[in-house]
Amino acid sequence: MDKYRFLTEDIILKISEYLEKFPNREQAIIPTLHEILNKYRDIPEDAVFEVSDFLKVPVSDVEGIVTFYDMFRNKKNARNHIRICRNLPCHLGRYKDLLERIIKLTGAEVGKNSPDGKWYIELVECIGSCAIAPAFLINDDLYDGSRIKDEDSLRKILERYS
Ligand code: FES
Repeated sequence: MDKYRFLTEDIILKISEYLEKFPNREQAIIPTLHEILNKYRDIPEDAVFEVSDFLKVPVSDVEGIVTFYDMFRNKKNARNHIRICRNLPCHLGRYKDLLERIIKLTGAEVGKNSPDGKWYIELVECIGSCAIAPAFLINDDLYDGSRIKDEDSLRKILERYS
């Protein structure tokens, strides 16, 4: 197990379950990448090689999937990941105003890390929290954007993260 840095014992256990379920090893790539993403919030480059080695599938197959699916792209390496929903209820809830404030306070832009490496902002599809539109996530924490009435309340939320 020490052979791998990102494939920890718990992830390997999950992969073994996937391998039992799926008839071929390629089908285990996506669920494996989800496990890594859940744990590290990113798919580090070395993890791609580890997945390939463990599943005995070509590196290009794993890389192809990481590149194809937006959610797997290893572009986010900021310390905190802000995901703002842009679907209709959140659009009507004025997510753009919220986004503007977040951009102003973090210095990040959509799809780009902030210069201090602290923030990464991503616009996403419905996150299943339409009742609190505009909804957004900071890492795994869900927030109700409609309760953020001014910059100060947003600043206080952002200050919770290092
Ligand atoms: S539309 Fe934004 S959370 Fe569902």
